[in-house]
Formats: sequence, C-alpha cells, structure tokens
Amino acid sequence: MDRITVTDVQKTFQLKPGQSVLIDGRPSDRVTVLNGVDLAIRKGEFITLVGPSGSGKSVLLDIIGGLVEASGGSISIDGKRIVRPDAKTGYVFQQYALFPWRTALANVEYALEVRGVGSAERREKARYFLSLFGLSGFEDRFPNQLSGGMQQRVAIARALATDPEVLLMDEPFAALDAQTREILQAELLRIWEKIKTTVVFVTHSIDEAIYLADRIVVMTARPGTVKEILDIDLPRPRDGDIRASTEFNAHRGRVWEALRDEVNKAQKDWALAPAYSH
Ligand SMILES: Nc1ncnc2c1ncn2[C@@H]1O[C@H](COP(=O)(O)OP(=O)(O)OP(=O)(O)O)[C@@H](O)[C@H]1O
Ligand SMILES: [Mg+2]
Repeated sequence: MDRITVTDVQKTFQLKPGQSVLIDGRPSDRVTVLNGVDLAIRKGEFITLVGPSGSGKSVLLDIIGGLVEASGGSISIDGKRIVRPDAKTGYVFQQYALFPWRTALANVEYALEVRGVGSAERREKARYFLSLFGLSGFEDRFPNQLSGGMQQRVAIARALATDPEVLLMDEPFAALDAQTREILQAELLRIWEKIKTTVVFVTHSIDEAIYLADRIVVMTARPGTVKEILDIDLPRPRDGDIRASTEFNAHRGRVWEALRDEVNKAQKDWALAPAYSH
C-alpha cells in the first residue's frame, strides 16, 4: 500500500529583486528546481534520496512535509492531500535544532506538549524514547552539555516520540564524525525495525544510502526529477559488516553509475555560472 504519493510535483522560485540565475546561458529571475517529480512510497518503507547538490532534495522534503507549497502537482499521504504540516509527520534536520533552553527530556516532551499529550504520559514517552537511544541518565542535560551525536539522538527521539507515520530526515548525520555516523545509522535501523514508520532520508553518502534503504531514489541535476529508483535487496536486519560484502559493493557501483552524470552536470552548471549574481 502506498503511504506517500508524489504526483508531477513542480517547484519554481521567484528570486528577490536584483537576484538572477543563468538558465541556458540567459539570466532569469525565476528558477525551477523540481520538475515533474513522481514517486510512490509504500507504507513502512525506508527510502533514501540522493542527488547532486542543488537538485531539490531539501525542497522536495519540505513539500512532502507541508512546509513549502509546490508550484504544480500534488502530494498526498494516505490519500490526504498535503497543504500544510501534518501532525503525523516528523522532521529531523541536519542541524540539531534543539531548544537550547530545554533539557533533553523537555526537548522530547515538547513535541508531545504541542500535540496536547498530558504531562505524565509525556514524561513517560520522552524517557522511553531517550532510553531507546541510550540516553537514560542524560535526561536533565541541556543541549550544550551533549555531544553532537547525542544531540542528534535527542532530535530523532523527539521526532519518533509522536509516533509519526512519516519521518522526513534531511542529512541528519552529515555533521557527525564517521564513527558516530555509523553508530547512529545502526541505531536508527534497529529502532526502525521495531516501529516500521515510513522514512524518507536525504543523504550525500552512497554507503549510508545503501545501508539504510529499501529503495534509493536518485535525483537528476536541477531541475530535479527522479532519474532512477534502485532496489536494495540486502537482507535485514543489517549489521555494519554488510558494507564489506560483494552485494553491497555491487550496489555502490550501480548508485554511482546513476549519479555520476548528474553530479558532473551540476558541477558544469556551477563552473559556468554562480547560482546567483547581483
Ligand atoms: N527560497 C528559495 N528561493 C530561491 N531559490 C531557492 C529557495 N530554496 C531553495 N532554492 C534553490 O533551489 C535549489 C534546490 O535547493 P535544495 O536545497 O533543495 O537542494 P539540495 O538538493 O537539498 O542540495 P544540497 O544537497 O546541497 O542540500 C537550489 O538551487 C537552491 O538555491
Ligand atoms: Mg539539501
């Protein structure tokens, strides 16, 4: 069954006065970043989204999350058209995005507070989700007393505590060191195996995309559209050693094959013209 349906989504931004972008060598004050994106995501599926920088991955996630309006086409979740943020959708950004004045526990509780959950239940759920990420004992710490990896764990716990039907993650591990990143990937998979929420996860790391995904969606260079969808049929549960397998390596080759031309195109674009000139 499909949970998220993306139908012919298009997004054009009107630039601010004085800004322009070169399109086919001509300056333009409008830029189309997504063009005809079609995608059907199944319930409980783990999708990773890869594509060159500027291919509209974050914009697409924002549109699925109801934070940005599409210029054309539509998004629906469980058949319901998305035009504003939905309480059943959770979001995790690259930046930790925690409230610095709230403790870890109070940060997780916040998501429940705004949904009207009573204080006792809120506390219990927040503690449970922090414990899933090994953060028991750190409930009273403020974000600046936690490492980057711990802060991102809190941000994920906060998103999961609301039992989201859809979890949108925009390069959530990009700012972490390689070891912490692998640990968090494994933790995320372990928890996802339990709750099986539908995840759309943006990444620039091919290994991360393969390790996590049921399917990888490869975007073209701007204007972004779906270039290819690759099935990742590696067995689950997956442990880190799977990265050394021949199957994993074969997937690396396929993903890179699909991405290479698009990354080159995007780079040529930048070489010819900075994105904006004044
Ligand atoms: N509000 C806006 N106004 C004008 N242009 C925008 C706006 N938001 C995004 N863009 C442009 O849309 C394009 C796609 O941006 P987006 O952030 O989705 O790319 P991305 O694929 O997430 O890239 P990255 O991998 O670098 O994060 C970029 O060229 C960006 O400059
Ligand atoms: Mg982005």
